[in-house]
Formats: sequence, structure tokens, C-alpha cells
Amino acid sequence: MGNKKIIAVVGATGSQGGGLARAILNDPDGDFKVRAITRDATSDAARELKNSGAEVVEANVEDKDSLVKAFKGAYGAFCVTFFWEHFSPEKEKQNAKNMADAAREAGLKHVIWSTLEDTRKWVTLKDNRMPTLMEKYKVPHFDAKGESDQFFINSGVPYTLLLTSFFWDNFINFGMGPQKGEDGKLAITFPLGDSKLPGIASEDIGKSAYAIFKAGDNYKNKTVGIAGEHLTGLDMATSFSKAFNQTVNYHAVAPSVYRSFDFPGADDLGNMFQFKVDFEEDFRKPRDVEFTRKLNPELLTFDEWLQKNKDAIEI
Ligand SMILES: NC(=O)c1ccc[n+]([C@@H]2O[C@H](COP(=O)([O-])OP(=O)(O)OC[C@H]3O[C@@H](n4cnc5c(N)ncnc54)[C@H](OP(=O)(O)O)[C@@H]3O)[C@@H](O)[C@H]2O)c1
Repeated sequence: MGNKKIIAVVGATGSQGGGLARAILNDPDGDFKVRAITRDATSDAARELKNSGAEVVEANVEDKDSLVKAFKGAYGAFCVTFFWEHFSPEKEKQNAKNMADAAREAGLKHVIWSTLEDTRKWVTLKDNRMPTLMEKYKVPHFDAKGESDQFFINSGVPYTLLLTSFFWDNFINFGMGPQKGEDGKLAITFPLGDSKLPGIASEDIGKSAYAIFKAGDNYKNKTVGIAGEHLTGLDMATSFSKAFNQTVNYHAVAPSVYRSFDFPGADDLGNMFQFKVDFEEDFRKPRDVEFTRKLNPELLTFDEWLQKNKDAIEI
């Protein structure tokens, strides 16, 4: 027990980090133990982790010194930012820099950075197919993560850039689940046409991250993409219909229509889906499902994820 390597997990009370924390806790004979990072060690989620055997440490990604303390003595760290808490790409970049700097100062041996593409490598700001947002971004919550890759690459700490996929959990807690339309029928709405969207259970992101740490040097200084399945809107609607035993349609809208929806970040997400459609091949290619399943044999398909989670989806 004493020789176990510590993995410090940012966002341990949340989706991706929680998946990693549970993966480590569920492998008591493994070589790793978890240090769960939270802003509030007294919260229910933090206490639950503690009761399950995790070390729980307080730190804030906005405060580099707190991260250095939280990373000290650890072998590795899982780093993630929280765009939807503040909607600020500038903040996200600063938070990522804080984590990369703290990883270097703490002398970590492996950091996994949960990232996404900087879409401006494909769609320059002058490209009018989609509006430029916040003056210098096309998909702010992607671009800020992709731009932040440099902090980790330049940190001198062995890193893995983990390209994640659309969380199927968005159907539960991001308001993307089936909704009744004016025709009284249930539908999911995406500006995806008939393109395939790589998706994943957020729990599987954590399990995949654990496999990357366990693989030692194999994925150090590399980019690793993961997905559970690549599915069209119609594929997902068909799965919903089966799971709920009632028809769920796929309502395909134009990206411009999606951007105009009345919820915060609709423009960012409209651009994101358009990027995924316009550069479908480039987006899907690094997120290989068979590779992900080798990494994490427990990887769920969408149907399996739905069976486990359908009761949490309000229709
Ligand atoms: N939804 C998707 O489809 C999708 C796909 C790819 C990538 N992403 C990205 O995933 C990221 C969010 O990851 P997630 O969904 O795993 O997060 P999450 O479930 O929202 O978890 C956030 C956790 O992080 C902690 N946290 C929040 N602010 C913090 C801070 N300032 N310092 C330290 N900890 C903080 C909170 O814990 P405490 O309250 O305990 O501190 C919270 O439990 C976003 O940046 C998003 O863009 C999402």
C-alpha cells in the first residue's frame, strides 16, 4: 500500500475526474491511489470519495500555489478545466497554465490534459462559414483547450493530450435529451445532418485515463483520442426509441438555427457541431472506438449507456 503511486485528480467530484477516481478506487490491488482534488472537502461528493478510500485535498485551478501543494508527492495528475462554469476561454487558458506550471513545480512524472481541438487550425477567423465569437475564437470551449496544449507540451512534464468526445451524459444534465415538439412527439435536436458524432459515457473517459496512467511510458508525449461509438442523430434517436419504447425522432436543424437557440453558449455549440460536420473525417479519425475498447475493455456502447441511465433522462 505504501508504495502506491498517487494520481491527483482535478474535477474528482465531477464527471471525467469522478470516473477516474472511481476507476482507481475500484482497483485496490493496482499500483495507484487517488488524491481527489476539490474546492470543498466537506461537500457530499467529496465526503463520498473520502468514504470510498480516496485522499481528499482542497485546491482551486484558479490558484496555482494551491495546485502545487495538491500535486506535491504525486506521480501524476489528471487536468481538466470547467468552461461551462464561467464561459470564459481566457479563464480556461489561465487555469490550464496554472495546472501545467504546478505539474512542473511539483515534479510530476505524467500529466493527462483533457483537451479538444483548436478549431481555428481548420476554420480561420476570416472564414465566414461560422461567426467569430468573443473576437478571437470559433468554438471558444474547444479553441481555449487546444491552445492550452502548449502549456503542457512546454512544461517539460511527460504529458498525454486526451481528446475527449461528446458526453452522452449531456442527455441527462446538459438539457440535450428528447423533448416534446409542437407535434407532441419526442425528438432530439442537433445540427448534424447525417454526420456521425463520436460520443462516450463520461465514466469511460475516466476509465480510459486510468488505463493511460497504467500503461507507463506508452502514451507519454502523445495525443490519444477516445470514443464509445460514432453515431448519427438518427442512430441516437433510434436507440432512444428502443430504450423508451416510444418513437423519438431526430430533428436535424441548420447550425445557424442551433446558434440562435435561447440558451447560454448556443452559439459556441452551434459552431462546434458545424465544425464536427464540416471536418467530420478529421474529427472522427483520432477517436477510434476499437482503440478505446482495447484501452478500456469496459467501454459502453450508446445502447448500453442508455440502459443504465434512461431513468435519469427526463422525457
Ligand atoms: N459535455 C461534453 O460533452 C464535453 C465533451 C468534451 C469535453 N467537455 C469539457 O469537460 C469540461 C468539464 O468537465 P466535467 O464535465 O468532467 O466537469 P464537471 O462534471 O462539471 O465537474 C466539475 C467538478 O470540478 C470541480 N471544479 C469546478 N471548478 C473548479 C475550480 N475552479 N477548481 C477546482 N475544481 C473545480 C467541481 O468540484 P468541487 O465543487 O468539488 O470543487 C466539480 O465537481 C468542460 O471544460 C467541457 O468543455 C465536455
